[in-house]
Amino acid sequence: MDKVKALYKGKAKTAWETNDPDFVIMEFRNDTSAFDGVKTASLERKGLVNSAVDAFIMQKLSEAGIATHFERRIDDNNVLVKKLDMLPVECVVRNRAAGSICRRLGIEEGRALSPAVFELFLKNDALGDPMINTSHCVTFGWATQEQLAEMEALTHAVNNVLAPLFLDAGMVLVDYKLEFGLFKGQMVLGDEFSPDGCRLWDAESGRKLDKDVFRQDLGDLVESYEEVARRLGVELP
Ligand code: TMP
Ligand code: ASP
Repeated sequence: MDKVKALYKGKAKTAWETNDPDFVIMEFRNDTSAFDGVKTASLERKGLVNSAVDAFIMQKLSEAGIATHFERRIDDNNVLVKKLDMLPVECVVRNRAAGSICRRLGIEEGRALSPAVFELFLKNDALGDPMINTSHCVTFGWATQEQLAEMEALTHAVNNVLAPLFLDAGMVLVDYKLEFGLFKGQMVLGDEFSPDGCRLWDAESGRKLDKDVFRQDLGDLVESYEEVARRLGVELP
């Protein structure tokens, strides 16, 4: 399958139209951004490491019966995915407190959250991805009540697969963000799952291995991502 033209250029990935209307090629670029695009950098090998981790995770989710957009990897930085009608809503699950929930609610970082917290954000960089609720989604037509229920159930199902998987690899899955879309009417996990969109801490020391390394200038981001891949058993070129 070949790239025909760029459909959408995001902050870290580009979606390419192919000659099949049902599929797009998602290219993982080396571009890295944080704080809704305020801090950016281009980091050698980041695209291929994220693409490899994403492919590994998508495969695990699909083996667990969760519908994802993932079809197959094309090469180091490109994957073939189903073309979804994306919903402009970001679903976040938090197993431990970190990031915005600490700022918003004054919760101390690292506190275990049981049951896991589920939050919705509007995908809108210009507005800084504000937190929203189901009522906003329904009134403004971003997602129906039924779609939201399905997204929440899928987001928790992902947690049940991934939290133990990361723990077996010596990492705590602190929180993560998922995006969903519709493929021929079916709710499907879209976007990606990589260290760009989740928080991962070393289970022993609590050392951060995710994009907070970049956000907070804690060290070499790509080295951290390569360590995540290595611990999961993902092979890298
Ligand atoms: P937050 O603490 O900034 O609300 O983010 C929670 C988790 O979701 C964290 O792992 C980062 C991820 N996330 C994104 O990757 N992109 C986003 O736009 C948002 C809102 C969260
Ligand atoms: N993913 C968002 C951005 O790139 C938010 C973040 O990761 O800080 O700006």
